Formats: sequence, structure tokens, C-alpha cells
Amino acid sequence: MYENNEIFRIKNNLVISLKMNEIKIFSPATVANVACGFDVLGFCLDNVGDEMVIRKTDKKEINITKIEGFHVPFEIQKNVAGVSALAMYDVIKPDYGFEIEIYKNIKPGSGIGSSAASAAGSVFGMNELLGRPFNKTELTQFAIKGEALANDCEVADNVAAALFGGFTLVKSVTPLEVLQIPSPQQLYATIIHPQIEIKTSEARAILPKDIKLKDAITQWANFGSLIHSLHTNNYELLRKSLHDVIIEPYRSKLIPHYNELKKEAINAGALGSGISGSGPSVFSLSKGIENANAVRDAIKKVYSKTGIAFDIHVSRINKEGVKVIYSH
Ligand code: HSE
Repeated sequence: MYENNEIFRIKNNLVISLKMNEIKIFSPATVANVACGFDVLGFCLDNVGDEMVIRKTDKKEINITKIEGFHVPFEIQKNVAGVSALAMYDVIKPDYGFEIEIYKNIKPGSGIGSSAASAAGSVFGMNELLGRPFNKTELTQFAIKGEALANDCEVADNVAAALFGGFTLVKSVTPLEVLQIPSPQQLYATIIHPQIEIKTSEARAILPKDIKLKDAITQWANFGSLIHSLHTNNYELLRKSLHDVIIEPYRSKLIPHYNELKKEAINAGALGSGISGSGPSVFSLSKGIENANAVRDAIKKVYSKTGIAFDIHVSRINKEGVKVIYSH
């Protein structure tokens, strides 16, 4: 990858080229909340995501020069990738600038981390071109600034999962602390994305300000046992833990046929299902690809009858996060 470059630096035992001028990256879709982990847990998908090209320019500024796929703003201050890029740029102040091309495959408002993929992708790519001055936690901090534009608040569950890969637990946003949680080898996700848009800010606005102690106890028992199940490869415990008694009752009303989808996924053998992020996507987790495919077929049947357009993805858990497609 680096053979045409002349200047290198060693950081964290990695040889880094400082003469790299252009990079293309894949920035993955992510599932936030994962049933009982509202705002703190997320996982990363393997085969769904945006691509971005970032290159150095002589002008000391950041510009978005191309957007394909879905419509998002070109103005740097109004684009999540631009806002996170600026947050990083203002800290490092290099004597050059960057231009960013965004190839969006993840529809905004889909609930699988569209804004997070953009926010994480720009800072990941710039960091590579800068010779990796920042670690993944620092990159997540910049990406949160972009995410905040879409969410109206600073949450890191999608951006942390996109940058670190695997399952991530955001222990705290201020100061930022991200824990990487192991992913059982045979765990697969099936994601259905009904083609309706739900804005995260609106899906947050309908949530209650206070919750019952009884519900909180159920939720943190489920959350603790979910984390334990991921550490111990315990699929049965995972099945028993994937329940959300706090957020789902409110948000499920925004997703047409949600209860039927969930019922059919579980009947087809899914370990559990829930709303992906703030919806409308719905995720199911399965042990093994065969089961994930059976869940896909079952939920496809439900949605085929509704007249609502949809996409379905089956994905293993992406343990790597954002990755380089090429650089030179
Ligand atoms: N946890 C967020 C929410 C998802 O459900 O509102 C976006 O980060």
C-alpha cells in the first residue's frame, strides 16, 4: 500500500506513510441500542455502508466536492461528515486542506447509522492522511460532533461501533470512554429497512422523561446479562436478554407492522429482535447464517404484503469497523 511513498513514521508499531495524498474508505452501517442498551450499546455491520474518498488539497480548508447516492448538504457546517472533519481540523491545523467525496449507500433516517457512517468516515480518512495522530477514542470524539447535528444531542453508540467495529459499549460520553465487547463467532444480524424515514430527533422527542423503577430494574438486568452473554458466547442467555421494556413501547408505534415482524422473526428462530437505533430499521440476531437467512425469508413475507418498499440485509458482525479500500 505504501510502496510509492517516501516518508514514514512509526506509531503504535505501525508504519505510517506521511506522503499519502488520497484515501478511499468503507464506512459501515451500525445498529445502536441493541434492544436494552439505549444510547450506550452498538454493533457494526459488515456489508452495508458508505464509501468516501478524501484527498489533501493546497487550500487550507475542507470542502465536500461530490455527493452521490442520497441527498445530503454540500455545506460543510450542515453536513455531518463536514462538522466532524472540521472538529478534527481545528485541533490539528495542518498547512493543507482536504476535499471529501461521499458515496452514500445508507439512506439518511434509516436507523442503521447513516449519519454516523459519514461522521466517522471523514475523520478516519483524514487521520490516515495525517499519519494517524489520533486514536479511535479521539476519532469518536470528533465524530460525535457530526452526529450531534443529526441527533440534536451528543450520543456515541453508532459512531463508536462504526470506528471500533464489533460491539461497543459507551461507558461515558463526557469524558468519552468506549469499551469493546467480544462478538460471538456465529452471531449474524438480519436487518429490514422499511423505506419510510424516521428522524432520530423526532424519535427522541416522543420518549418519556421519567421511567418507572420497576422497568429500570428489568432493563439493567437484561443489559447486564446481554453483555455477559456476549463475553461468554452464551446464545441462550443472549436470547433471554434481548428485551427492551423502556424505549420499544413508544417507538414501535412509528414502525408499521412492528409486532408482526418481531413475532415472525422469533418464530423463524431469531434469538431476538428490536428497533435498530431510532428506527425504522428492525434488527434480529441469529446463531448461524442459515438461521439469519430463515429470519430474512420470514420477515420478507410479512413486509411483502404491506405495499411498503423495503431492503433486507444479512450481515455478520464486522469486527474491524471503518476500513481502507485504497490509499496512495
Ligand atoms: N441511541 C440513539 C437513539 C440512536 O436511539 O436515539 C442514534 O445514536
